Amino acid sequence: MESNFDLVIFGGTGDLALRKLYPALFLADCDDRLHPQGRIIAAARQALDDAAFRAKVSEALMRFVPEMVQGARAECLQRFLARLTYFALDVNDVNQYRDLKKSLDERDSQTVFYLSVGPALFAPIIGGLKEAGLNTAETRIVLEKPLGRDLASSRQLNSLVLDAFTESQVYRIDHYLGKETVQNLLALRFGNTFLEPLWNRTWVSDVQITIAETVGVETRGEFYDGTGAFRDMVQNHLLNLLCMTAMEPPSSLDPDAVRDEKLQVLRSLKPWTQDTIRENIVRGQYRAGSMAGVPALAYVSEQGVSASSSTETYVALRAELSNWRWAGVPFYLRTGKRMAERRAEIVINFKSPPHSIFQSPLVPNRLVIKLQPEESVRLYTMAKASGDGMHLREVHLDLDFKEFFPERRQDAYERLLLDVLRGNPTLFMRRDEADAAWRWVQPILDYWATEAGPPIGYAAGSWGPPASSRLTARGDTAWHEERSV
Ligand code: BG6
Repeated sequence: MESNFDLVIFGGTGDLALRKLYPALFLADCDDRLHPQGRIIAAARQALDDAAFRAKVSEALMRFVPEMVQGARAECLQRFLARLTYFALDVNDVNQYRDLKKSLDERDSQTVFYLSVGPALFAPIIGGLKEAGLNTAETRIVLEKPLGRDLASSRQLNSLVLDAFTESQVYRIDHYLGKETVQNLLALRFGNTFLEPLWNRTWVSDVQITIAETVGVETRGEFYDGTGAFRDMVQNHLLNLLCMTAMEPPSSLDPDAVRDEKLQVLRSLKPWTQDTIRENIVRGQYRAGSMAGVPALAYVSEQGVSASSSTETYVALRAELSNWRWAGVPFYLRTGKRMAERRAEIVINFKSPPHSIFQSPLVPNRLVIKLQPEESVRLYTMAKASGDGMHLREVHLDLDFKEFFPERRQDAYERLLLDVLRGNPTLFMRRDEADAAWRWVQPILDYWATEAGPPIGYAAGSWGPPASSRLTARGDTAWHEERSV
């Protein structure tokens, strides 16, 4: 049985809470995975009573839980809503944290604080928790990104948190680590033997990691314009996927065993110089275009975005790891908004056979690990076409996870929230990991702040600027969709 808990969500009426956190908790509750007495307390500025707050959450569940949209799961709604309470909070008023403490002290339960707020509110909230003595050794604190804007601000933020909590109490969330296929990558690599001998510079020619989105900036224009694709996606999600792909086998699934290996990958990333930044990074911004036949605005015409903005909505880069396993193997990372397709995948391109005995050209093998929209693994391989002669053709072996595991797939936030309640930090970023990631990206931020010109335009609904195809072509390869048959 799960243990009893009090989950306090700061920013509890915000977009992330309504879209992701309550739906995730609701589905976990429907599957009886929350302690019956567990409480969820939303702390936010608005003056609301419990009833009004519950109505708001109920409306959000109807919109954001696909099963609810289809009329299912209604039977657990009342039970879930009964867990919710609302606490109106002025983050700067210490007395109010004391009131919160009183209500938490009455119960024998695990307290978790979830900071789903803008970075400017981290300091007053952490200060308030500390002042009121809410930072006892038994509590946990979850930090939602962005965790800083650069190396200096991320260090400042970490010092602030670690002044009130110890590292083992801190859960830095990156929801990509909660995605089922990312964990399946661990199973695929370390639960089998056939891949490991090939998983290195001898057999792999390059690795491509893509997170392409069809959405634009939606209602987040103002936030996004001050952030950009690099801070929003590369510094965290893409680097975490890179770590999971490139890391050495950990000795166990112990949280620190896994995170130590991820850290080694971050530390092996080849540092940037001005020349390598210029040559190996493409920055793009979407112009007007069309998404599935519907006209789409240019980024600079989106609500909340400055008309002269030079914020990037697309990044492609070529990274390298300086270690024995991967030296010389390019890792191409890219992400973009308003791309041709929604697709997140890791592609391992293998080398060509050293000698061919066939007339047909041989297409090198490719392993495609897909995270979204569907979760699958596909191995492209050569086979003899039926009939006379020896004509070879590229075919593929498919593993569709839904076929083997037809039960409901857990959402990333659901998995991660349950991990926090259970006290398992394996899939959360440790301070030294966050620091190493920022250290690697800082020269790029410095360069862009002073030297770089505006981002290159690409049409909404395309695969990004042509310069990104030139980036892979220089390495004698091509993006996966450019090669797909
Ligand atoms: C978030 C970014 O971290 O991840 C968003 O801030 C992005 O800009 C989102 O859209 C993508 O997540 P997912 O799970 O929908 O691929």
